[in-house]
Amino acid sequence: MRIEAIGCEPNLIKRFALENSTRLDVVRKHGAYDMARKAVTTMSPAAVIDEVKKSALRGRGGAGFPTGMKWGFVPKDSPKEKYLVINGDESEPGTFKDRYIYERDPHLLLEGCLISCYAIGARTCYIYSRGEYKYLIDILDRAIEEARAAGFIGEKLFGTDFSCEMHTTTGAGAYICGEETALLNSLEGLRGHPRMKPPFPAVSGLYGCPTVVNNVETIAAVPWIIEHGGDAYRALGTEKSGGTKMWSVSGHVKYPGVYELPMGYDNLEKFIMEDCGGIPNGRKLKAVIPGGSSVYIMPASDIIGKKVLMDYEGLVVAGSMVGSGGMIVMDDTVDIFESTKNLTEFYKHESCGWCTPCREGTDWLVKVFKRIANGDGRIEDAQLLLDICDNIEGKSFCPLGDAAAWPIQSAIKKFPEDFKKHLVPMLQQDAIAAD
Ligand SMILES: Cc1cc2nc3c(=O)[nH]c(=O)nc-3n(C[C@H](O)[C@H](O)[C@H](O)COP(=O)(O)O)c2cc1C
Repeated sequence: MRIEAIGCEPNLIKRFALENSTRLDVVRKHGAYDMARKAVTTMSPAAVIDEVKKSALRGRGGAGFPTGMKWGFVPKDSPKEKYLVINGDESEPGTFKDRYIYERDPHLLLEGCLISCYAIGARTCYIYSRGEYKYLIDILDRAIEEARAAGFIGEKLFGTDFSCEMHTTTGAGAYICGEETALLNSLEGLRGHPRMKPPFPAVSGLYGCPTVVNNVETIAAVPWIIEHGGDAYRALGTEKSGGTKMWSVSGHVKYPGVYELPMGYDNLEKFIMEDCGGIPNGRKLKAVIPGGSSVYIMPASDIIGKKVLMDYEGLVVAGSMVGSGGMIVMDDTVDIFESTKNLTEFYKHESCGWCTPCREGTDWLVKVFKRIANGDGRIEDAQLLLDICDNIEGKSFCPLGDAAAWPIQSAIKKFPEDFKKHLVPMLQQDAIAAD
């Protein structure tokens, strides 16, 4: 498992390799909490938000929403309590980057939380993680205790009136609880169903109060922005996608791992075939899902020789998305029908059941996939799958429905042969029977 920066200095991962990097005394020698002090003692909250706006930092949880803009939506004059909620649910298949921040540099996240709370006027931060991350939450809890004992968390921090508390909390392993409003319900002790938007959490979130929900990696980028300035962060990446991003790479590459790359890295083919060591065992690249299972699958022909830039804009031009940065690489032994069936079973299992298109639709999708896999496929089944997707996409209550539909739509479009081969034998049998 490789962890390295390519095409940029290690920023997010720079302290990962230190011995005992989770310990405060170790990371203090490398600047931990200096930027929280700088922000709280020398900058106004508005100035912090301005730097983050300038940085072109976009949410690393999947949607890529501009972080500074989101913070700017929090009503400054609201008499209500304000909250920062960190989304560490990380349940998107193929995604395993946030866990390394917990495991290797929890104080980086906590420092980011302090600065972010200060910027949005929050005194309380909840760090929500999937239940399976219990061993990582223990690391985070220890880090919070250390930071509290050292005076970085608690009352009147850095000799100012700014106070900030932090709490870790867990879900029970439900993918839907990564969706920000379902997460807030779960945090409140309710069932993890999504909420209607608007109102957006920035206006009415946790307990009906203004709440910023941000991904772990998003907030871990904030100390660097305070140290070097928003313009410098933007310059690490592209005009519209500032900074660096962590990509978790799994599947058929020689060196799976977590890679920090500048936004706009040139290019996806080079990244897979050279930086990640290429495809092992003499096989060929067949397909890549670049941003976690919920984005469109890309055939090798859309990557090889195409100079796909690795940022929000570049991947959209190439027919997919950055998503969470959970890259799944598949060689030519993979049957895309089978891999898509597998993903669809995941989405059916994880559909929360709240809305009909997603609950019923994902169930029908699995039924059709299973029928085809059992040898009872019909040639019109590919169209039937697309019709069911059409009845889910854009019609479900939250984007989980879209996330279930997109992999199927793109798989059928880009790999029709992999679907046909499960259907044609049946047709041939029909023809024989008719004779
Ligand atoms: C089904 C579903 C699952 C999601 N899971 C996660 C997750 O595990 N982590 C995450 O940060 N965002 C996840 N998101 C996105 C969040 O709803 C939200 O956009 C994000 O936490 C905002 O933070 P950011 O702006 O820093 O990305 C998910 C969205 C959906 C629809």
